[in-house]
Amino acid sequence: MNTSTCYILGIESSCDDTAAAVINNGVVLSNVVATQEIHTEYGGVVPELASRAHQQNIVPVVHQALRKANIDKKQLHAIAFTSGPGLMGSLLVGTSFSKSLSLGLGIPLIDVNHMQAHILAHFIKAEGQTPPKFPFLALTISGGHTQIVKVTNYFDMEVIGQTIDDAVGEAFDKSAKILGLPYPGGPLIDKYAQQGNPKAYPFPKPKVSPLDFSFSGLKTSVLYFIERETAKNPDFISEHIEDICASIQYTIVSYLMDKLKNAVKKTGIKEIAIGGGVSANSGIRKALQDAEGKYGWKTHIPKFEYCTDNAAMIAIVGELKYKQGIFAETNVVASARLKL
Ligand code: KG4
Ligand code: ZN
Repeated sequence: MNTSTCYILGIESSCDDTAAAVINNGVVLSNVVATQEIHTEYGGVVPELASRAHQQNIVPVVHQALRKANIDKKQLHAIAFTSGPGLMGSLLVGTSFSKSLSLGLGIPLIDVNHMQAHILAHFIKAEGQTPPKFPFLALTISGGHTQIVKVTNYFDMEVIGQTIDDAVGEAFDKSAKILGLPYPGGPLIDKYAQQGNPKAYPFPKPKVSPLDFSFSGLKTSVLYFIERETAKNPDFISEHIEDICASIQYTIVSYLMDKLKNAVKKTGIKEIAIGGGVSANSGIRKALQDAEGKYGWKTHIPKFEYCTDNAAMIAIVGELKYKQGIFAETNVVASARLKL
């Protein structure tokens, strides 16, 4: 194994988090995330405001990442940045900044697919974590994506199932909005769910092909259910918030687990890894832990800080590409709909 120093700076700006991290041979030296609070009052990410906030944050965030890693920018070996998928205006800030920095420092530039990074975050060296063995199945669950990916090697990935409408993070956030909770509501549903009865209110699971997902119907059934109940009792939400959240979370988690079971059956692969912001959810983390004993799976759950959007995951992909000599040209462009 190559143990000589290899400092890679990762930069992430695909949505509403401006993030920078420094990695050295799989070990994260710093991982800085500036979350943009501005979107909370609008109940969702406002693209125009996101790109402006990235412009403001990117220089201080990168400085802080270098300072925390205790290195100077001249010691960097390469710059890795998110080239997509994501919001175009947000991606452009990180892309242009990274190009300029790599040109200024005279070091290679590496483009990184955000969804690939959520999967390869498992190769960050962290205490108590063992990386998944190839081939494995990755369930990528975020505010923008819901996919089951067959991962044969670092850069050999095949999407075998995906959502036909909303992403699972949207299902959490839109349900939370119906309950009057602020954006992003996913973590709040999770918090209340931990005190509630998951079987209190049954919600239907949408029927689509075995490996695909659909979440738009769930949002509608939550809406109709809340309208019906609040018509009878205006305080229904505040009186039953824990049970409502537990029931929504239970429906979503068991739906995700059903799809994983189908994927294991189809591929014969029992090595499972999750990635993306929703993998911070306590319900899915517990269900996956239980699956080890129940179904004989080997499950991999990333450390909390590598689940939601972060730059350490961009830096690890940068490092893997750097060691294989895979670099970007200076005319590389951001792509809002970049595929895996
Ligand atoms: O990966 P991510 O940080 O950004 C995207 O690329 O989308 O994921 C953000 C999504 C949001 O929808 C947020 O509500 C959800 O992840 N999320 C959660 C939890 N933490 C974050 N959803 C459910 N439970 C959580 N604990
Ligand atoms: Zn993400």
